Amino acid sequence: MKILSVASAMPQKRVRNEELAAFLDTSDEWIRTRTGIEERRLLSGDERLESLAHQAAQTALSRAKLRPDELDYILCANVISDYITPGLGAVVQGLLGASCPCFDLNAACAGFIYALQAAQGLLKSGAKTILILCAEMNSRLCDWTDRRSCVLFGDGAAATVVASGGEDFLFQMTAQSNPAVLYAKNAPGNSPFHNPWPAEYLTMNGQEVYKFAVGAACSGIRALLEFSGLSTKSIRYFLLHQANLRIIESVREKLGLAPSLFPTNIQRYGNTSSVSIPLLLDELFQGGKLKPGDQLILSAFGAGLQTGNCLLSLA
Ligand code: ACO
Repeated sequence: MKILSVASAMPQKRVRNEELAAFLDTSDEWIRTRTGIEERRLLSGDERLESLAHQAAQTALSRAKLRPDELDYILCANVISDYITPGLGAVVQGLLGASCPCFDLNAACAGFIYALQAAQGLLKSGAKTILILCAEMNSRLCDWTDRRSCVLFGDGAAATVVASGGEDFLFQMTAQSNPAVLYAKNAPGNSPFHNPWPAEYLTMNGQEVYKFAVGAACSGIRALLEFSGLSTKSIRYFLLHQANLRIIESVREKLGLAPSLFPTNIQRYGNTSSVSIPLLLDELFQGGKLKPGDQLILSAFGAGLQTGNCLLSLA
């Protein structure tokens, strides 16, 4: 598999920590020191997630010099969109004017890595070109009266075009079911036969998630290095899911590596779930910081609890 292009499209509205402190019992100082976040982008007014995803997809296709009708598949990593059904990938397929099959997958913050692994399987079974969309409206999941969670998240979309060719990507995936530490529950229906659980906004045991994230990222990265026989010196960048700067720092320290190997953008976007790693990739490509032959390790962790780790070499 090889990556042909990456692009992102973020909401217009920047919300700085101080703006949250205007209606929540929080402060810029608390949010910065506990998370590293300075601001986030949030959907506002009539802005729609599907439009952001469409814009990211169009840019990625144009960078890959491909037409929508040349796609063999669209995979969309998404936790929540304006639709329960159809999946967001099917909505964006129509906006693009593509005609290929598509499906959505929800692996929370590890969605991009799960989509990459699924794409590699589809390419091995005959597909030639696949669009991976990651699009998240975390602001819809959060309780905006709960300072423990809503300050952490942001919205956005990213698109990645992958194609057959290049070297196999190496994956290390895990899932250990534990919905209690991080979940959001759907709106109840009105079936007269069923007693649904009440809807609940995003609920998180931050410290449990923190411990899980640090341990899982360290063991996932070590496992990839061991399987591949590579040393950390061969890796150009470690791109970690941007959930909390302290999580990234802690993983980096445990691995004994330099800060320059762990690019971050959580300061400007908060936690954008499955979008965070392709958003970082887009920034690195656009900033001229990546070249063919560079080896990258991607590491994501989130609700489930699920993790996805990937070692790839840029074609
Ligand atoms: N502003 C001010 N005070 C706050 C805020 C806030 N926004 N949020 C919590 N506090 C208070 C708490 O109420 C608590 O007060 P108390 O001691 O009087 O009870 C105090 O700050 C300390 O709270 P802790 O939860 O102990 O703070 P901690 O240092 O653990 O930081 C945090 C909390 C940032 C959530 C951290 O645990 C974390 O980052 N965990 C991982 C979360 C994460 O990564 N989630 C997403 C991953 S999965 C995914 O991406 C979907």
